[in-house]
Amino acid sequence: MKCDIEIFLRGTWVKAASFELNDAGEVDKGVQGAGFFEYDLDYALDHLNAGGVDAVSCRFPVDFEYRRLPGWPAFLLDILPAGANRRFFLNELGIENRPGADWPLLLKGGGNPPGNIRIAQAAPPSKKGFSHEGFRYEEVLDRGEDFIEYARENNAPVAGSSGAQGEAPKFLLTQDRGGRWHADGALPDDLAHRHWLVKFPRGKKPSDRDILRNEGAYHCVARKVGLNVGAPVRFDADALFVPRFDRETVETGVHRFGLESLASLSNVPSFGAPVPMETLCGAISRFSSDPAADIREFVFRDVLNAALGNTDNHGRNSAVLKTLDGAVRLAPLFDFAPMFLDDQGIPRICRWTGAESGGMPDWGDAVENLKTFGMDAKALRAELAGFSGTVERLPDIMAGCGVDGWLIERLFRRIGSVRASLQNAEPAVYS
Ligand SMILES: Nc1ncnc2c1ncn2[C@@H]1O[C@H](COP(=O)(O)OP(=O)(O)OP(=O)(O)O)[C@@H](O)[C@H]1O
Ligand SMILES: [Mg+2]
Repeated sequence: MKCDIEIFLRGTWVKAASFELNDAGEVDKGVQGAGFFEYDLDYALDHLNAGGVDAVSCRFPVDFEYRRLPGWPAFLLDILPAGANRRFFLNELGIENRPGADWPLLLKGGGNPPGNIRIAQAAPPSKKGFSHEGFRYEEVLDRGEDFIEYARENNAPVAGSSGAQGEAPKFLLTQDRGGRWHADGALPDDLAHRHWLVKFPRGKKPSDRDILRNEGAYHCVARKVGLNVGAPVRFDADALFVPRFDRETVETGVHRFGLESLASLSNVPSFGAPVPMETLCGAISRFSSDPAADIREFVFRDVLNAALGNTDNHGRNSAVLKTLDGAVRLAPLFDFAPMFLDDQGIPRICRWTGAESGGMPDWGDAVENLKTFGMDAKALRAELAGFSGTVERLPDIMAGCGVDGWLIERLFRRIGSVRASLQNAEPAVYS
């Protein structure tokens, strides 16, 4: 009942830590199963006190402690198969969906998640002797959601292609230097060139397709208003191609950066929890290398969440990126989409305590709550008031980015309310 956690360090995977359940009975409790976490002795000796990219979690700097935990450490939930990925591995294992499935799912499906850690027991098989020529872009497009099945039928290795979490079905695909496409975990690093997350609509309903198509355009909007967004995404034939920001190809191979969700940083061992926004800001404040800049970015992202109806703002849809220089910074924006269109009716998940009504934040009050984290509330309120002009121009910016006209129309009122709240963020006389 033990899983070994590996970390990618200067070109290779090394064993860093382990989590062991108390006893077999804990398996049935799923992520609430109690156990022991510890760093590997050799790893601890070599990396003592490391906190950023060399630690498996910001909450667990490298040390010699043997920790008794009442449930799984929250960072393991970042790599436990969830959503479409969970359904895929339940099917592979032929087991029922219940809490007791969590442990076998981790050991089967935690082998190639985004970021720089993985579960050793689930790691893709060695790539020695790899020789598949890969697939053309058109083949990926034509097959869509069935691409991995198609690759498998064509005798291509497909391990590690389903590592990312989330409700929507998606693949991790890698392009080789010749531009051909492979399952991510199957291609050796020295042949890898560009890394992609290829995302498909959540379901078969027209609204699912509308959401994904506009997610592509929303990324453009976020970039235009000055948020931190990765390289441009591309929507093509029902698939959203998202360049990965947790990988960098260099001459000697591939760099893998650490990626840890704000839910994990906040020690939330569950999915989709309505964690207060201040708690998430508190986590940024505690672990970011530049808390003031990252909290500011997080607040401005939330302005767009409110204005553009991205209601699915749960703590696993924001993360920090841990780079090789030791920095821990809010990762570029991801999963930013008109989720209010979802047929299941997703209400805004994370909210500002005492500063929201009907899912609409009062920005002035929200910012006052951030003084605890050393934020200059007066300056931030003035900046937010200044941003109201940009919010007013959102319909034009959205049109320029290719957001559907009917969607822009549906958002008019919402955008108007956010603009008004921003204008009021700076009181005439600041006390
Ligand atoms: N550009 C990126 N680079 C690296 N990793 C990414 C990128 N975009 C997303 N991810 C990772 O992949 C995961 C799934 O992506 P995303 O959140 O977009 O999917 P989703 O199915 O819409 O999720 P949800 O169920 O939260 O709506 C993210 O939680 C994040 O860890
Ligand atoms: Mg997500």
